[in-house]
Amino acid sequence: MENSILFLPGDGIGPEVTNEAVKVLKAIEKTFNKKFNYDFGLLGGNAIEKTGVSLPPKTWKACQTHKVIFVGAVGDSKYDSNPVELRPEHGFKLIRTELELYCNIRPVRLVPGLEKISPLKNEIASKGIDITIVRELTGGIYFGEKNRTKIVDGEKATDLMSYSSYEVERIGRIAFQLAQKRRKILTSVDKAHVLESSRLWREIMHNIKHDYPDVQYNDLYVDNAAMQIIKSPNKFDVIVTENMFGDILSDEASILSGSLGLLPSVSFNPNTTSLYEPVHGSAPDIAGKDLANPIAAILSIAMMLRHTFDLEHESNIIQKAVENVLKKGYHTQDILGGGKVVGTKEMGDLICSEILAE
Ligand code: IPM
Ligand code: MN
Repeated sequence: MENSILFLPGDGIGPEVTNEAVKVLKAIEKTFNKKFNYDFGLLGGNAIEKTGVSLPPKTWKACQTHKVIFVGAVGDSKYDSNPVELRPEHGFKLIRTELELYCNIRPVRLVPGLEKISPLKNEIASKGIDITIVRELTGGIYFGEKNRTKIVDGEKATDLMSYSSYEVERIGRIAFQLAQKRRKILTSVDKAHVLESSRLWREIMHNIKHDYPDVQYNDLYVDNAAMQIIKSPNKFDVIVTENMFGDILSDEASILSGSLGLLPSVSFNPNTTSLYEPVHGSAPDIAGKDLANPIAAILSIAMMLRHTFDLEHESNIIQKAVENVLKKGYHTQDILGGGKVVGTKEMGDLICSEILAE
């Protein structure tokens, strides 16, 4: 199905931010005379509630037949005591692995002129923040063997962190190519002085770097990287790292742009499909209260238009609409720095008005 989008709103604030994302896409359709097909499905806690599993067969089938997938957010602490297969995240991880969406791209950008919403001191923020994190998404400790055994004085739990050279090379090459299209600096983050999987990671990266002589390459240990991202964010261009380090560093880096609620992402495999989603989680504490920031979801639509549908102009219009609304001083409660606090729906409406005024 050419222009078909499968929306999986998910849990917590997922449905609210998905609504705003849909609203924005409809504003784009209207303004630019485009047509998309919208389908919706269950995923996560709400799917467990209605069908008993977090990835119902109907949703899985739809994932395989649609051009592209959009996920709102997945997770609900209500299921914390469930076995792994009956947790909301399980279905989500299944989509990632079954479609082998190994490459996760998370751009962190502080909009020039909006330094006041960054928690960093102006002298650091004003040097600019424009970092793209390339996170390996289908390997590492998330998917290695898990074990729990009884021992004399209690229990023992294991999560295996493993990577093959093939897995490292394919993500590494994507990161190098991305760096070539940007400022040509690539930082690979690992823990090679302690972890064997990191030593292999580093070896492979060093092997392939010779194919990209125009890229300035360097390695950082993850603890040091966590500090440098705060201290000198302007020194980073593209960061490539394994699954869990990428999960943690992307949440950390996101706040530099003002809020985790601003960060979009795409997970893809050049041979299968792409899944777009905000980086933030389901935030059950604020769910249903019209408090969530819909911008990460809206910018995920902008990424989708650019990368999947080749609609560069329409994508830029969304980006510009978001920046205009923020520059006018409107923001949701997660963003600090003064201005006028609006709810989820009003934020969506404001962004739509900017688009419709094009
Ligand atoms: C993310 C989320 C997921 C992850 C969870 C929901 C499994 O935190 O997309 O960053 O850790 O990958
Ligand atoms: Mn995360």
